[in-house]
Amino acid sequence: MSNAYLDALKKRRTQYSLGRNLSASKEQLATLIQDAIKHSPSSFNSQSSRAVILFGAESVKLWDLAIEAVRKVAPAEGFDKTEAKLKSFAAGVGTVLFFEDQDVVRSLQEKFALYADNFPVWSEQAGGMAQLSVWTALANADVGASLQHYNPLIDDVVASEWKIPASWKLRAQMPFGSNENGFGDKGFMDDAERFRVVG
Ligand SMILES: Cc1cc2nc3c(=O)[nH]c(=O)nc-3n(C[C@H](O)[C@H](O)[C@H](O)COP(=O)(O)O)c2cc1C
Repeated sequence: MSNAYLDALKKRRTQYSLGRNLSASKEQLATLIQDAIKHSPSSFNSQSSRAVILFGAESVKLWDLAIEAVRKVAPAEGFDKTEAKLKSFAAGVGTVLFFEDQDVVRSLQEKFALYADNFPVWSEQAGGMAQLSVWTALANADVGASLQHYNPLIDDVVASEWKIPASWKLRAQMPFGSNENGFGDKGFMDDAERFRVVG
């Protein structure tokens, strides 16, 4: 049984070799990313996920800021490798910054006190779903991407540089661009250890 969604899901891989050789326009990519987030589920349809999509020089600026933030806390020895890795994220077309709006979480906690402990967890889960949706949609459009976590180290510089509302909590960064390399084989654990089909 063929399934276009599963085909796209299987196509999604971590791509560290990013370039700028994409035929899709900035507008098309922005729409694709927004649609992927918009149509991802959230608890009580709370739509807690937020995104800032950085293109071109703005994306390069993000990774320059990240390099300086990491430099402050990382040992000087071997930093050239770290810097090269961060620069590879800047070599693509753009970066999606994923946030979760804590005002949404707080208002749900007030409104539905019974589930108060669950809302921060569900917000994280919704954020993860939004990230996977974007990653898969990009892969399906032959755009490479990876998922990075330089938060909370870069939270303050990001907030001040792009005037991010105080309630938006940075959760992930997704650099994207053309696939400049293939993908290695990926191992999978034994299905029998992982799944049980009952009945
Ligand atoms: C919740 C989560 C966090 C991740 N964090 C990082 C990260 O900080 N840096 C990174 O390079 N990859 C990160 N990854 C990517 C995984 O390492 C990668 O998806 C996994 O090794 C499988 O490879 P694939 O993406 O090619 O299928 C993360 C993936 C998930 C689901």
